[in-house]
Amino acid sequence: MPALGVNIDHVATVRQARRTIEPDPVWAAALAELGGADGITLHLREDRRHIQDRDLRVMKETVQVKMNLEMAATEEMTRIALDVRPGQVSLVPEKREEVTTEGGLDVIGNLTRVQEYAKRLADGGIEVSLFIDPDERQIDAAHELGVSAVELHTGRYADAEDPKTQEQEFLTLVKAGAHAVRQGLVLHMGHGLTYRNVSRIADIPDLCELNIGHSIVARAVMVGFTQAVREMKALVTR
Ligand code: PXP
Repeated sequence: MPALGVNIDHVATVRQARRTIEPDPVWAAALAELGGADGITLHLREDRRHIQDRDLRVMKETVQVKMNLEMAATEEMTRIALDVRPGQVSLVPEKREEVTTEGGLDVIGNLTRVQEYAKRLADGGIEVSLFIDPDERQIDAAHELGVSAVELHTGRYADAEDPKTQEQEFLTLVKAGAHAVRQGLVLHMGHGLTYRNVSRIADIPDLCELNIGHSIVARAVMVGFTQAVREMKALVTR
C-alpha cells in the first residue's frame, strides 16, 4: 500500500491571493495528519507564489510525519533545505510562468547540476527523490546519480482525454515503475491525481508513495481538510 503525501501548497495559494495570514498551511498540515496523511509535501517555489519560507520553518517544528520539500535544483534552495533539513527533498523542474510543474526533470540534460545538488542534499542526511517523466532513460540517469527514489509524473495519465490514451499512459507508468524498482529505486508517483483516477495508480505494484495536492485541497474547501484527506487515504489504501 502506498503512503499518502498530502501537498498543502494550494492552502497557501488561497492565503497569498490576499497576502494575509489565513488560511494557514501549517494548520492544514496538522489536519491532514489527523486525516491519515503519511507525509506532508510542500513546494517552495523560487517566486514564492504560495508556500513561504516561514511555512517551511514552522512546519519543520510541527509536522510529525515525513516532510517532503519539493524544490528546484538551485543553490538558493539547496542552502534552505540543508538549513531546515526536511526528511525528503524532491527535485523538480521549475519555470516561473508555468501554472504548475509541467513536466519531469530532465536528468540526462542536467546531469552535472542535478548530481551536485543531489549529493549535497544526501550528504546532509536528506532522502533525495527526482520527479521525472515515466521514461526509462531518465530512470537510468537517476539510478546512475545514486538517488534513493524517483517520483514518476502521472500528469499525462491524469489529463488523458479519452480512455484509450489513459490506458496507454497507465501502461507506460506500470512499465516505467517496474523498471525503476528493478534498478533498486524507491517508487513514488504523483501529479494531477484525483478521487476519480487515483485507484488504479494506487494498485501499481511496489509503489511506495503518492503525492496529491490540488484535488484534496479542492475537496477540503467543501468538506473540511481532515475529511478530504480521510477520503483520499481510503481510496489509496483500499
Ligand atoms: N508531485 C510533484 C513533484 C508536484 O510538483 C506536485 C504539484 O506541486 C504534486 C506531486 C501534486 O500535484 P497535484 O497538486 O496535481 O496533486
